[in-house]
Parts: sequence; C-alpha cells; structure tokens
Amino acid sequence: MSREKTTPYHFIKFKREGRRIVMVTAYEYVHAKLADDAGVDGVLVGDSLGMVIMGYRSTLPVTFRDVAHHLKAVLSANPRALVVADMPFLTYEVSREEAVRNAGKYIKMGADAVKIEGGAEVVDKVEAMVKAGIPVMGHIGLNPQRYLVLGMRIRGKTAEDGLKVYEDAKALEEAGAFSVVIEFTTAEVATEVTKALKIPTICIGSGPYCDGQILVFHDLVGLNVNPPPFVKKYAEGYEVFRRALASYAEEVRSGAFPDQAHYFTMKPEEFKRLADLLGKRGSGLG
Ligand code: KIV
Repeated sequence: MSREKTTPYHFIKFKREGRRIVMVTAYEYVHAKLADDAGVDGVLVGDSLGMVIMGYRSTLPVTFRDVAHHLKAVLSANPRALVVADMPFLTYEVSREEAVRNAGKYIKMGADAVKIEGGAEVVDKVEAMVKAGIPVMGHIGLNPQRYLVLGMRIRGKTAEDGLKVYEDAKALEEAGAFSVVIEFTTAEVATEVTKALKIPTICIGSGPYCDGQILVFHDLVGLNVNPPPFVKKYAEGYEVFRRALASYAEEVRSGAFPDQAHYFTMKPEEFKRLADLLGKRGSGLG
C-alpha cells in the first residue's frame, strides 16, 4: 500500500484531528524500512546513536557528520514517515548563523525537519531556522545534551520546574516550532503543555496524555540491555540475536553449517576438467 509522504503539516493536522502520532528513532536503512512497514508516522535520526550505536556514555561526543552518515542510510529507504535529523551538541548553540547553516545541510541532504534541544534559551535559533524555511521540532524536559549542567533528572516534579517546562514549550511554539518532544517529565506537566499548545507534543517517558510518543529503536525492540526506566520492550531483540549467533557458532563448529541448501556445486564434468587442469599444475584434487 503506498501512502502519502508525512510532512510537518501532517503532524499539526493529526493533532487537530486527535490522531495520536507515532515516532521511533532510526539510524539505518533497515530501521527506516521497518518503521515504514509498521506504519510509524515519523523517524528521528537521534543523537542517541552515540549511545546505542557507538556505545558512548552520553550523546555529547556525537558530531554533525555522525548524524549525517546515519541520515544518509535512513534516507536510502525513501521513507514515507517524516524524517527528522537531530542536531548534535554544539552544532546550533553558538550562533543563529551556524544553526541555520548546519540545519540547512541536513535539509539539503533530504531530511524533512531538524530537532534541537532546549527551551527559551534556543528560541532565537528556532526563529532563524524557521525564517530560513527549515521545520524545527523542539525538545524540552530532560535535555541529555545539557546533563552536565542540569543533570539527568526527571523534570516537572515541583510546580516551579513544571512552569519552566511549560514556558519553554510556549516559547518554542511562538518561535515557530511545528512540534515539541517532551522527555522524562511528570505526566501532569506534559498534559498541561499538551492542552496549551496548538502544535503536537511527542513524549518520551512523560505519560500518556500527549499528542504522540517516541521511543529509541534499540530500547523498544529489546537491544539495549540497560534501557531507561520508562521504556516498554516490545521484543526480546538482544536474546533473539544472541541465540541466533550462538546457534550459528555451534553449527559452524559442528560442521552442520553450511549444509547442502546453503552452498553451490559444479557440474561433475566441469569438476573433472578442473581436476585435470589442477593435475597438470601438479596439485590435483585427489
Ligand atoms: O536522540 C534521541 O533519540 C532523542 C529522543 C530520545 C527523543 O532525542
């Protein structure tokens, strides 16, 4: 079934229609194919790739080129889902010009939108990007790129902190963002933000009363052995792959693989000719 390409405009329309939005991260061709085949609305080439693909301890070392590399792989699947490129640490904070230039490069590659972390402190960058014609997804609540300053704690546990998240969301909407991710924030705050915004909220670890949800691919399919506490695993991916690899190793060692179904042979007369040719070279096949 061929479906219409999803755009930022569709995300806003989905909110108006009360249709929940489904997003997942994707880092390669097959992830994007799987997401599309499963009917997912949007894929994020997240800087979480630093942790789930590269095995880093945080997202801070992820570079512009890392995301570009994985974006290229995702775009090869020509996804119907909206493709959002995550802007890594220090690719947008320094100046509006740098933010527009870097975001523009992902858009030129084929991304449908970019995502940046931060609230009120990044609205000038959001405004500049939107003015340049670049759709921007905000990202508030827990901001892993700022964990050295803000910590990796749940947001919105106090009324004051909840108000800060709320005001960040409003500022991003005013700046022209087409949607906003709310990460690891109390459900009450995420609900109030969702009610107050015209643009959709996409939540991760922030409860059910949002316009959509996003999970990291490796967390949801069970490939991350140490997922965050809010993750629901929909498959035991790690165990499935570990068992497949262990069976393969066992069959190679026992000689059970490759069996006749998994190799190819010559016609007997060709083999005889080969044996003759090798025999002339003093080797022969016995
Ligand atoms: O990089 C990422 O995967 C993200 C999601 C957690 C929203 O930013």
